[in-house]
Amino acid sequence: MSADDDIIFRVDLPHGRCVGVRVPTAINPGSLLGLDHAERDFLGTLSLARRPTWLAGRIAMHAALRDMERDAGPILATRRGAPELPDEVTGSISHKQTLAVALASHRRAGLSVGVDIEPIPTLPPAPSDPGWDKRPDISSRVMTPEELAALAILPDGLRRREVILHFSLKEALYKAINPIIGRYVSFQEASVLPRPDGSVAVTLTLAKGEGPFVAEARWSEIDGHLLTTAAVRPQGEERKRGESMAKLAVEETSGAP
Ligand SMILES: CC(C)(COP(=O)(O)OP(=O)(O)OC[C@H]1O[C@@H](n2cnc3c(N)ncnc32)[C@H](O)[C@@H]1OP(=O)(O)O)[C@@H](O)C(=O)NCCC(=O)NCCS
Repeated sequence: MSADDDIIFRVDLPHGRCVGVRVPTAINPGSLLGLDHAERDFLGTLSLARRPTWLAGRIAMHAALRDMERDAGPILATRRGAPELPDEVTGSISHKQTLAVALASHRRAGLSVGVDIEPIPTLPPAPSDPGWDKRPDISSRVMTPEELAALAILPDGLRRREVILHFSLKEALYKAINPIIGRYVSFQEASVLPRPDGSVAVTLTLAKGEGPFVAEARWSEIDGHLLTTAAVRPQGEERKRGESMAKLAVEETSGAP
C-alpha cells in the first residue's frame, strides 16, 4: 500500500493544481514511505489526533508538486504555520475529518494561493443530523453587515450553507494573504459574494491599509465538501496587464508558454 493509493482526486483548478487525499483512520507504514525523514520526525512531534490530517495534507501537497515537477525536499511549516514550500511555488493545505486537500501553483508576480474545505451542510438539515439546530450561529462573527443583509433575504434552509461558504472563502483568503502581510486578518477585513457559477466577487478592506492587492476566489463542491480557493497578489505585478490570475495559474500548471 503506497501513499498514492489514498489519493481521491487530482485536478487543475483556476488557482492551481489541487489534490485530494483520504485522511487515514490509522497511519499505515506504507503512507509514511512518501515522506522525507525530516517530515517523519516532525510527524512524531505532533499529537496523535493531529497526525492523520497532517500526513494526508503532506501526501496531497507532494502529489500536487510532483504534478508540477516541483517536488523537492521536505514540506515543514513556516513560523506562522503555513506549509514551507520551494521559493518558486505557492501552495496551501486544508483538512477535515475524512479529506485533506493541497493546492499549488507557480509563484509568479508575487502570487499567493489559499485553499479551504468544509463538509457540505445537509439541506434541509436532516432530523438524523444530531443537534443541527443547536450548533452555534457563526454568521455575525464571519460576515460583514452587508453580507448579513444579503443572508437575511435567503430562505431559512439555505442560510447555513451560505454562512459556511462565506467562512470557507475567507479562510482560503486568509491562507493566501497571511503569508504576504504577516499578521492576523479578521473576518471583517474581506467581503465575498459567491455566485452560483463558482465565481466570487472579493473586496479586501485591510485594517492596516496594506496593498493594494488583487484578490480572487472560487468555490466548487467535491467529495461531499465545499472546496474554496483564493489567489492574491500585489496589484501591478502581473505579467500582462488585464490577464487574470486564474489564467496565469492554469498556464503555469499546464506548462503553456
Ligand atoms: C489558520 C486557519 C486559516 C486554519 O484553518 P482551519 O479551518 O482551522 O484548518 P484547515 O484544515 O482548513 O487548515 C489547516 C492548515 O492551514 C495551514 N495554515 C496554518 N496557518 C497558516 C497561515 N498562517 N497561513 C497560511 N496557511 C496556514 C496549514 O497548512 C494547516 O495545516 P497543517 O498544519 O497540517 O499543515 C484558521 O485557524 C485561522 O486562524 N483563521 C484566521 C481567521 C481568518 O480566517 N480570517 C479571515 C480573514 S479574510
